[in-house]
Amino acid sequence: MQSNFNPVSLLMLTIFFSFSCQKEEVFSESDLEENTEQEQTPPAVLNLPASVFNYANVNLPPTFTRPNVMDQDNEPDSNRVTDWGATLGRVLFYDKALSLNNTIACASCHQQEHGFSDPEVFSKGFEGGLTSRNSMGLANARYYTPGAFFWDERAASLEEQVLMPIQDHLEMGLSLDELTQKLNQLDYYPELFQLTFGDEAINSRRVSLALSQFIRAMVSFQSKYDEGLRTIPPGNDQANTPFSNYSDSENLGKALFFSPRTNCAACHGTINFVAPGPRNNGLDLNFADNGIGSVSGDPRQNGLFKVNSLRNIEMTAPYMHDGRFATLEEVVEHYNSGIQPHPNLSPQLRVPGNQGPNNVQPIQMSLSEEEKQALVNFLKTLTDHSFLTDERFSDPFLN
Ligand code: HEC
Ligand code: HEC
Repeated sequence: MQSNFNPVSLLMLTIFFSFSCQKEEVFSESDLEENTEQEQTPPAVLNLPASVFNYANVNLPPTFTRPNVMDQDNEPDSNRVTDWGATLGRVLFYDKALSLNNTIACASCHQQEHGFSDPEVFSKGFEGGLTSRNSMGLANARYYTPGAFFWDERAASLEEQVLMPIQDHLEMGLSLDELTQKLNQLDYYPELFQLTFGDEAINSRRVSLALSQFIRAMVSFQSKYDEGLRTIPPGNDQANTPFSNYSDSENLGKALFFSPRTNCAACHGTINFVAPGPRNNGLDLNFADNGIGSVSGDPRQNGLFKVNSLRNIEMTAPYMHDGRFATLEEVVEHYNSGIQPHPNLSPQLRVPGNQGPNNVQPIQMSLSEEEKQALVNFLKTLTDHSFLTDERFSDPFLN
C-alpha cells in the first residue's frame, strides 16, 4: 500500500482542496472565469514532505533499548507506529477542525517549543474556558508502564485518552459523530486514511489510533544528558561518574539527583525519569484536587499523581498538576524545605523506616544554595533542542 503512494497526488489533492474552498469564500463565479491563472497556482493547505517522514524506524541509542526501558513501553501490538499513521496523527494533532468552532487544536495546549505542554497555569479551551489542571508535556509518554494517562490516570490507555479532549465540553467540544462528520468534509483526509489503514473510511477509532501513533513517536533522546551518558565508560555508574560534557555544577546536580539524600531518581527513574506508578510528593496536607484519589474514591490514594517524564522539563513550566510553581528553583525548594507530612506521602520522600499514615516525617535534604542551583542546572540538561525543533513533530498546516 505504501509503495504505491504517489506523493504528488496528495499534494495535488490538497492544492485542489484549498482552491475549491477559496473559490467559495473569495471569488464569485464571474471572477473565476477571468482568474484561470490563479487556478493553476493556488495555495496548498498542507505542507507534507515529498517522501514520508520516518517515525517507525528511529535509531534509538542503546540506553533506550535496554530491557528495563523497553519494558516501560506502552505501545500495544494492535497499534504499532507506522510512518503514515504518525503522519495522519500529526495532521490531526495540528488541525483546529477538531474543535467545535475551529479555534483550538491539540497543539494549542501542547506546543512543540514547550515540550508539548504550554506556558499557562491552566489552558484555554475553545470558548475561552480554563482547564482545571496544568497541561502535560508529551515527550516520551510512551515510556510509562501502567499505560495510564492524565495527572489522575483516569484514561487507561493512550488510545482512550486522545479522544477525551475532543469530547471535553471545555477543551474542544465535539461529539465523536460530529468529529467524523467534520473530518469527512475535509478533502485532505481520505487519502491520509487510505495510506494509513488501506481504505478511506474515516471514524473516531482510526482517529484515536493515528493520534496515539504520533504521540508515541515523540521520543526525545538527544539531550545533553544523553550525550553525557555516551562519555562514560560502559559499566560505570552514571550517578558517580562525572560527564565530560557537563559543567561542575551540572555534575554536582546529577550526583545529587541520583543520591539517597534527595532520592529524586527513586521516583523519576530510568532514562525517561518516570516512576512505575503514581506517587504523593507532599505538595499539600489537604489537596484541593486529590488526583488518583478523586477518581477512585479511595482516601489512601488522595494526593497521588502521575509522575510523567522530566525530559524537556525546562520548557514545560509552570510545574505540577496545578501549575503552582513557576520555576524549577521553586520546585527544588519544595523538595528541599516544603514537603508536607501528608498521610499518603510516598515512602521515597520519608525518613527511612517511617512508613505508616501517622507520624509522617519527610526527608530533610538541607541543600545549600549552590546545591539547589546545581539540581536546577542538571534538570536543564534534559532539554533536547533537536526534539523541540524536529520538523517531523511540527505544524504541517500552511499559514
Ligand atoms: C484546552 C487545552 C488542551 C487541549 C485542546 C488538549 N489538551 Fe491534552 N492536556 C491538557 C491538560 C490540561 C492535560 C492534563 C489534564 C488532566 O490531567 O486532567 C492534558 C493531558 C494530555 C495527555 C496526558 C499525558 C500524560 O502523560 O498522561 C495527553 C496524551 C494529551 N493531553 C493529548 C492531547 C491530544 C491528542 C489532544 C487533541 C485531541 C489534546 N491533548 C488536546 C490540555 C489540553
Ligand atoms: C515520591 C516520589 C517523588 C520524588 C522522590 C521526587 N518526585 Fe518529583 N514529582 C513526583 C510527582 C508525583 C510529581 C507530580 C506531582 C503533581 O503534579 O501533583 C512530581 C513532579 C516533579 C516535577 C514537575 C513535573 C511537571 O511536569 O510539572 C519536577 C520538576 C520534579 N518533580 C523534580 C523532582 C526533583 C528534582 C526531585 C528530587 C529533589 C524529585 N522530583 C523527587 C514524585 C516525586
